[in-house]
Amino acid sequence: MKRLVILASGSGSNAENIINYFSGNSNVEIAAVLTNKQNAKVLDRCARLDVPAVYFNKSLYSSPKFLTLLDGFNPDLIILAGFLWKIPTELVVKFPNKIINIHPALLPKYGGRGMYGSKVHEAVRENNESESGITIHYVNENYDEGAIIFQVSTAIDPLDTAESIAQKVHQLEYEHFPKEIEKLLI
Ligand code: GAR
Repeated sequence: MKRLVILASGSGSNAENIINYFSGNSNVEIAAVLTNKQNAKVLDRCARLDVPAVYFNKSLYSSPKFLTLLDGFNPDLIILAGFLWKIPTELVVKFPNKIINIHPALLPKYGGRGMYGSKVHEAVRENNESESGITIHYVNENYDEGAIIFQVSTAIDPLDTAESIAQKVHQLEYEHFPKEIEKLLI
């Protein structure tokens, strides 16, 4: 049995997609979804899907208790699905090549602190990029700089808005993220 822990800060549509993807797979268990936002929509999704969800605050996150909490789930893979806090070095060291992130652009473009969600798509629009995409990568001590596992692009039309780019990117995330996770579990 492979155990997944998902960290999410907001809507959690990727978290839900991953949960649904593995729901019929008896070899994979979603051990927990952890969130740093007390009223995050991902909590509603977990309640509906009957997946254990845990809220943690900054003070717990910054203490050794967070590592103990995470380790207690005995995760084979820790998945950042729209999780916006930096991962502390202790976690990177404790879980080598076991923490992965999805970023809504083609890294190294549009990565780094402050580059998340709609901000990324607005920047892509402003720069009149002809393509954007998704990057799935291992997490290291620096935002969006770990080794890249997978990338795929989508064309950006001059008429696309930040919102329509976001939709295109989300579709790529839904299609590819669970499959790439599955490959990592083999
Ligand atoms: C996703 O598009 C993900 O790539 C992005 O946040 C969104 C979360 O959506 N992550 C980042 O920007 C990380 N830097 P969701 O909550 O609906 O899954």
